[in-house]
Amino acid sequence: MRAPRRIALARLPTPLQPLDRLSAEIGGPRIWVKRDDLSESGAGGNKVRKLEFVIAEALHQGADTLVTCGGLQSNHCRATALLGARLGLRVELVLRGELPEDADGNLFLDLLAGASVHAYPARRYQAELSDLLEMHAARARASGRCPFIIPTGASDGLGVWGYLSASEELAADFRAAGIRPRHLVVATGSGGTQAGLTAGLHLHVPACQVHGVAVCDDAAWFRQKVLADLGDWRARSGSTLDLGALRISTLDAYIGPGYGVSDAATLATIRRVARTEGLLLDPVYTGKAFHGLLQELEASRLRDAEDIVFVHTGGIFGLFPQRAQVLGTP
Ligand SMILES: Cc1ncc(COP(=O)(O)O)c(C=O)c1O
Repeated sequence: MRAPRRIALARLPTPLQPLDRLSAEIGGPRIWVKRDDLSESGAGGNKVRKLEFVIAEALHQGADTLVTCGGLQSNHCRATALLGARLGLRVELVLRGELPEDADGNLFLDLLAGASVHAYPARRYQAELSDLLEMHAARARASGRCPFIIPTGASDGLGVWGYLSASEELAADFRAAGIRPRHLVVATGSGGTQAGLTAGLHLHVPACQVHGVAVCDDAAWFRQKVLADLGDWRARSGSTLDLGALRISTLDAYIGPGYGVSDAATLATIRRVARTEGLLLDPVYTGKAFHGLLQELEASRLRDAEDIVFVHTGGIFGLFPQRAQVLGTP
């Protein structure tokens, strides 16, 4: 298998930490959190692990400009904006939606990091995303720059390496903590984190099943996306891993009203975890995923081991634009 290029951007390894107060309250397995929210400061979260591989390839190709895309509150865009600034690269962001007068959360940080922001109405964005990315790349080329396009969430055969290698780190964490979890729960949005963990744990901790908690789209969509990203990874890396042997699990009952919108029960979980453990979850990704984990335990599922693991993928800046809903005040 061909080893990928990599640039060290994240603070690794991240801690694996038990949530003892919450676990005692729930009376089930001991809940552990892999603190990937601590993988960096402003650029923290799951994206920095993927971007270590994606940006390394961009630099290898001589890029001086990163072009990528996402929602107005995209954590991936914010991480790319800040890492681009750190490396002296220009960053062009193609965003879905209408720019608000007062930029908050991730969008505020995109602007603070000096990224160029181009927003398009949701319909046009959905219909023309690849053309829009190409157009901004072409504009960069026309002004003498060398652009590199990163797909949504850095989820492709290159980004998958981020959580393939995180799986080795998790195997070492489990050995050090003396635990044998049978379930690992993580938020899934563009599928790359789920794909990397599903293949990575299959290789390094085969007794532990990955469950992606969908924040948008259904289990069928994620199955196809995970297989597509891993198929791309196989083709690029020369891996012979049998994708048919993978157990791809997506829990799609916790999406709530839609992408970016949480229901009252999820918001209550966010408050509960902040108040019981001092741990911050966000209303778009980790809040839904952690709420899903608690609901599964409540329904007597995922309880067949003494320990269960949640991967905290970051995203806390997404709390700020939704401050009133999160606090439960109108
Ligand atoms: C905080 C957070 N958690 C989880 C995810 C899901 O990761 P992925 O896009 O790899 O599915 C994302 C991005 O989509 C994210 O920003």
